[in-house]
Amino acid sequence: MHKTKKLEKNSFGSRIGFVLAAAGSAVGLGNIWRFPYLAAKYGGGIFLLVYLIFTVTFGFALMLTEIAIGRRTRKSVIYAYTSMNKRFRPLGWLAAAVPIIILPYYCVIGGWVFKYLTDFCSGAGAIAADDGSHFSNFISHVGMPTIFFALFLIITGTVVIFGVPKGIENVSKVIMPLLLIIIVGISIYTLTLPGALDGLLYYIKPDFSAFSIKTVVAAIGQLFYSMSLAMGIMITYGSYMRKEDSIETSVRQIEIFDTIVAFLSGLIIVPAVFVFSGGNRDALDAGPSLMFITLPNVFNSMIGGQIIGCIFFLLVALAALTSSISLMETVVSIVQNKLHWKRFTSCLVVTIVSFFIGMLSILGYSIWADFEIFGKQILDFLDFISNNIMMPIVAFFTCILIGYVVKTTFVEEEIERNEQFRSKPLYRVMVKYICPICMLVILFSSLFLQL
Ligand code: PHE
Repeated sequence: MHKTKKLEKNSFGSRIGFVLAAAGSAVGLGNIWRFPYLAAKYGGGIFLLVYLIFTVTFGFALMLTEIAIGRRTRKSVIYAYTSMNKRFRPLGWLAAAVPIIILPYYCVIGGWVFKYLTDFCSGAGAIAADDGSHFSNFISHVGMPTIFFALFLIITGTVVIFGVPKGIENVSKVIMPLLLIIIVGISIYTLTLPGALDGLLYYIKPDFSAFSIKTVVAAIGQLFYSMSLAMGIMITYGSYMRKEDSIETSVRQIEIFDTIVAFLSGLIIVPAVFVFSGGNRDALDAGPSLMFITLPNVFNSMIGGQIIGCIFFLLVALAALTSSISLMETVVSIVQNKLHWKRFTSCLVVTIVSFFIGMLSILGYSIWADFEIFGKQILDFLDFISNNIMMPIVAFFTCILIGYVVKTTFVEEEIERNEQFRSKPLYRVMVKYICPICMLVILFSSLFLQL
């Protein structure tokens, strides 16, 4: 009882505050950096269409499930699963392990973004743009990446220390509208550049020849990551949601926000890179090089590129910050729930431990660069194992738990507390049949296509 009361005191003050915080978690590096190149690579408009269909079906069902579990149990992730069914305790631990793994390296990448933000805003952006040696030089050292990583981590920790309504909700209410204004502004600007229209066409015109089963797998994988699913975040945020607010409407709004930002990021990146590279598809290829090598070069070739670069990296930094806040809040809620420590102590310990774990990723690019696990550097390996292996497993068993063990009524009752559940038939089919199958497809494709 005591635990429950504690969480209730620390809840979101308004529905819009909840929606913006959850959208803050969803909107991150995945939307701005990963979505555009996936869309460009997997058939433009056809990828957008597939992505959209999955968003309103599959993504909707999974997000709804997690938020409802959180709000009904009012517990952090491990206890939430355990309280639904004791045999699912290990699943709670697995879900809890995901943010513990991701938080440190996400902040390392956040540090890289901070570095480019300061470069562009201080006028050193021209140095940041080059053949790639500036970036590889930067990450192959320990000092600078560590300073920027620590800064990013400390800012994240500071917001989380203030708690849900005072820290996370207030910060999200400022950052998220600002983020939307910035992204609309830059996309209008890049579309006015000469030649941008061809790039735009390339982005939105369906290319059926690029369509394959890979398009579908890529769309599901991206959606899953983009909506911050299967890592306890939405369960944690759901546990702070007010009982009188509508879950269904909130999920729809979070999805709309997340999708708009992903789409607009594509509107900025695809035409800009397209113009810069003279229509070369490879320029949009995956990996950190798009964000940290290609784009800085594009900005430097634009009129007013220094300012655009500065605003763009501000946008990325804000998006990454609200995501890392949600990761840290999830870890902190686990520590608080498990060890009964005060918020301040929990935040401090989580920040310090994350710092040391994050250092492994930094060292993995510098003095331990020769050290590889399954042919991957430390950061890439952690990213792979959490996103491609652990998250699909968590999502799969969550569907089994809801669909067949506690039954979908567990979620439905929570949604129907104060409204009619309009998508109930769709929801049932999704959770019981479609989502588990999709998760198995993702799991097997990542096991056999990548390892
Ligand atoms: N949803 C975030 C994005 O689109 C990614 C993320 C992953 C956020 C893990 C938090 C935790 O970038």
